[in-house]
Amino acid sequence: MGNKTFTMIKPDAVENGHIGAILNKIIASGFKIIAMKLTKLTKEKAEKFYQVHSERPFYGELVSFMSRGPIVVAILEKENAVEEFRKLIGSTNPAEAKEGTIRSLYATSMGENAVHGSDSDENAEIEGTFHFSDDEILS
Ligand code: GTP
Ligand code: MG
Repeated sequence: MGNKTFTMIKPDAVENGHIGAILNKIIASGFKIIAMKLTKLTKEKAEKFYQVHSERPFYGELVSFMSRGPIVVAILEKENAVEEFRKLIGSTNPAEAKEGTIRSLYATSMGENAVHGSDSDENAEIEGTFHFSDDEILS
């Protein structure tokens, strides 16, 4: 079990002014931020990041959503980070997300669900490396 995960505060949450509240919740839940930046995905970068979903019916919608405005990307550290962070963000569909989770508080819909969290240690590494070079990651 690894100690790092990767997250994005998605365009909907940035547009709705939730960057600060979401970061507060992440920090209060015991995660240490070891890399972070405000950035924007081009359509091409969003297509590449979500390549695993390219056969899913919502892929086009997902790519246009994720490239429509600024996002915050970060690498987080905590024991059992991947699982702990997915607990903190809640279910993909905010209507099903447990009370108090980030998605229950800040997400708007299944597609526009405020945050991303890696689903495995392997993907956390791949996704972190997608956004950050070695010298941008502190630890
Ligand atoms: P991430 O942490 O963002 O990866 O979410 P997840 O792991 O909970 O869900 P999954 O990897 O299955 O889907 C990736 C993203 O695609 C979701 O977070 C949503 O933004 C989007 N998505 C998933 N299902 C749907 C859907 O039915 N419709 C739309 N429009 N978007 C969806
Ligand atoms: Mg996922």
